[in-house]
Amino acid sequence: MKFFIDSAEVAEIKKAAQSGIIDGVTTNPSLIKKSGRKFEEVVKEIAAIVDGPISAEVVSLTAEEMIKEAQTLLKIHKNVIIKLPMTEEGIRACSQLSQQGVKTNVTLVFHVNQALLAAKAGASFVSPFAGRLDDIGYDGMDLIEEIVGVFKTYGFKTQVLAASIRNPEHVRRAAIAHADVCTMPPEVFHKLFYHYLTDQGIEKFLKDWDDVRK
Ligand code: G3P
Repeated sequence: MKFFIDSAEVAEIKKAAQSGIIDGVTTNPSLIKKSGRKFEEVVKEIAAIVDGPISAEVVSLTAEEMIKEAQTLLKIHKNVIIKLPMTEEGIRACSQLSQQGVKTNVTLVFHVNQALLAAKAGASFVSPFAGRLDDIGYDGMDLIEEIVGVFKTYGFKTQVLAASIRNPEHVRRAAIAHADVCTMPPEVFHKLFYHYLTDQGIEKFLKDWDDVRK
């Protein structure tokens, strides 16, 4: 499973990328707003840190405008992936961009049928939002499992990018469900390293080693 960082905070992305195991980055308009910085600047800086796909989202509502916006975004860096909303217009844009060889990520997916539409439109990635489904009383990870299963059945090349990840348990479930990618906030990524038995084990080893050297 590829690890993407879901953030537009350059310092945090840099810190996570120092691990050497970050494969890409996803951004969205809310994350850009939170960063308080210019979109283009942020994407360029991210591209200098992580050599992998960087999702940049369009904000237009018609396919024609989305495609126009995509052309501008693609000029920022060769690793930019066009993030499109899961709407009829978004799917129309996805279909046209895919035919032109542009890589896309269809976002705000909450149902397996929506994922199927995106795959049929040739999307490179589809982003089901697990956490937001949990928020309204569903098990968001069930959706990831369903999509992975359906894509496998029909041989779609579209990668399942588990998004709206809120905790390490989501990451575990995404991996067990065979998601291709899991995009997570930096704080979730850093939590993955921790286990109290690991800390306890290190403490004991160090203590025993000290006794050996006495
Ligand atoms: O990047 C999209 C997605 O991961 C958003 O997550 O936590 O705002 O639902 P969240």
